[in-house]
Amino acid sequence: MKSQSVAAARSRARRVEKGIETETRARQFTTKPSLQGLLQLPLLEELEAHGGRAKPSDLYERLADRLDVPTELRSQKRTCADGQTYSVFPQAVRWARQNAVMAGLIHKGDRGIWELADPGFAKLKKVRRGVAVLIYSLDDGIALWAHAEDAARAIEPGSLDLIFTSPPYPTVAREYGRFSVPEWLAWMKTLVGLWKNMISPETGTICVNLMDAFVSGTPNLSPYIERFTLSCVDDHGLYLNARSVWHSPTKMGNIQWASKERVRPRNTLEHLLFFSHGPNPNWDTRRLPPEPYAASTIAGWERAQRRPSSKRPCGYNINELAFAPTGTGPLPGNLIVAAGAPGNDRYSRRCKEAGISPHPARFPDAIPKRVILLTTEPGQIVYDPMAGSNTTGKAALDLGRRFIASEPSLTYLTASSFRFDDRPDFQRHPLPDGLSLLAAA
Ligand SMILES: C[S@@+](CC[C@H](N)C(=O)[O-])C[C@H]1O[C@@H](n2cnc3c(N)ncnc32)[C@H](O)[C@@H]1O
Repeated sequence: MKSQSVAAARSRARRVEKGIETETRARQFTTKPSLQGLLQLPLLEELEAHGGRAKPSDLYERLADRLDVPTELRSQKRTCADGQTYSVFPQAVRWARQNAVMAGLIHKGDRGIWELADPGFAKLKKVRRGVAVLIYSLDDGIALWAHAEDAARAIEPGSLDLIFTSPPYPTVAREYGRFSVPEWLAWMKTLVGLWKNMISPETGTICVNLMDAFVSGTPNLSPYIERFTLSCVDDHGLYLNARSVWHSPTKMGNIQWASKERVRPRNTLEHLLFFSHGPNPNWDTRRLPPEPYAASTIAGWERAQRRPSSKRPCGYNINELAFAPTGTGPLPGNLIVAAGAPGNDRYSRRCKEAGISPHPARFPDAIPKRVILLTTEPGQIVYDPMAGSNTTGKAALDLGRRFIASEPSLTYLTASSFRFDDRPDFQRHPLPDGLSLLAAA
């Protein structure tokens, strides 16, 4: 009897010793300022990106990617005094999770599933999945705090004339955005399926602004834009109405391939893809502002006035005056030239005054303005499901259209109200009970 209790006590002592040692190692690893400070927020963000709950094994690799953890450290193992081995990085993540549980940011409980608690959502200023909350409104506009998937459930089917958005781009290195290309394509396939039912079958257009993504570690482009286009046409039966290109002369080049290695030119182009239900989109290019004729074109007409008509290489006898100025400018092309979003507009100034960083990936209002003018009439409804700073909503209002905006980041959405809060019809809406915690700073 006595020998049994001695054995049990020894075994308990060994377990305690092992636990202390493991914890000490984890502490040594995680209390390095570089990793300890870095792990908690990405852990919360990754959980949020998984809809608020995830298996730990689904998070380790994502976090390692986010934090650029070197390969040898990801697979590094350590051996305890009793000969048992453990993986160092997952152990550090589990330690960060434990700290987050103590801080009330992650729910205590089922160790097989980690779940973000309300204070965790509040820390991120991200909305919980399944919820769409009205944050501000105007006579002709509303802004919802919601993920695109949840906002879709709050908007009447067939009620929209234009969905225009610029999603987070898939980056294999996941420096910005959180998707690999296959994940992004699957996500967008779901969203386009929802959006298709939200646009009017007669007048509706879906337009998506996308930027090229590089194949990680190479100067090559991912063909994700082509795959997305094919999915819209083949999986959803939409018509590809048009492609436009936005040339931003001030765009920075890719650091590795354009600046350092100099193997490829600066990528100054972004893409706009237009889709609709039917083969005849309800558009009118006459709504676009007139563009000036090129000086060489005008000189050509002046020459043509002085000589008789001549045969073209194609064989037709066309007098160049047939294309003479009509007063409305040349037919609009599909190239949009516009510098990036301004840093000194009302929105940016108000952000600075409020101590908030302006949204890092805004497009200039020239982009939504052109899309809205081409595809909608005054009074129609424009929706941006990934509204960011709500450049689209402001452009819609300026052009006499109505807007719906949704965005899952409360920080971005609150700052976007700086575009409208000087208007007499602007209304900020209090958060419903139970959600105020989510909005806590
Ligand atoms: C490229 S930015 C849009 C910027 C916007 N066009 C502007 O001018 O401010 C993409 C936005 O998508 C948002 N986003 C990320 N995940 C989302 C989701 N599941 N549903 C809706 N929006 C999401 C991000 O928070 C980000 O603000």
